[in-house]
Amino acid sequence: MAMDFKTQIDKNKVPEHIAIIMDGNGRWAKKQGRLRTFGHKIGVKAVRETVEGASEIGVKFLTMYTFSTENWKRPAGEIKALMELLVKSIHKETPTLNQNNIRLQAIGNLEQLPEKARLQLQKSIDETSQNTGMHLILALSYSARWEILHATRQLADKVAQGLIKPDEISEAVFQAELC
Ligand code: IPE
Ligand code: MG
Repeated sequence: MAMDFKTQIDKNKVPEHIAIIMDGNGRWAKKQGRLRTFGHKIGVKAVRETVEGASEIGVKFLTMYTFSTENWKRPAGEIKALMELLVKSIHKETPTLNQNNIRLQAIGNLEQLPEKARLQLQKSIDETSQNTGMHLILALSYSARWEILHATRQLADKVAQGLIKPDEISEAVFQAELC
């Protein structure tokens, strides 16, 4: 983000929550005659600049669609490279998140992540949990369909346990189960 562009932003009109779907890493790399994973690597730089910029202009919540449920269908090698990049990047960026008072969070089917990724993620979430500035939310192994399924299972479980009755499931009750 160029300096003069940032100063043009009216801080009173900054959205409270911005969500970004990362896309085009692979195509961008191919155009440069490089491997898709190179695109992912450079993508991390773009994420870093975006996070820093969003935090500076006063965004409260920044959601990054990082890895979708559908992305599990990719070749094993690319998934492995993405997960390793995730672990490395989160590890490396956690001190900066703390310096900038940014709190890391995650949504999605995190149980599906490789153990290394899950542990590093949890570590960084814990280490930034006291920060009071922007919330950086990584959507990992996430899709809207997964979220609906997950909420439905939670509610079904509560009904099965006799905690609530089916006709007590209102929009508000359903929403409370969403990420
Ligand atoms: C976004 O770039 C990064 C992830 C989904 C992890 P893509 O990997 O979707 O790149 P394209 O869209 O194939 O170019
Ligand atoms: Mg894509």
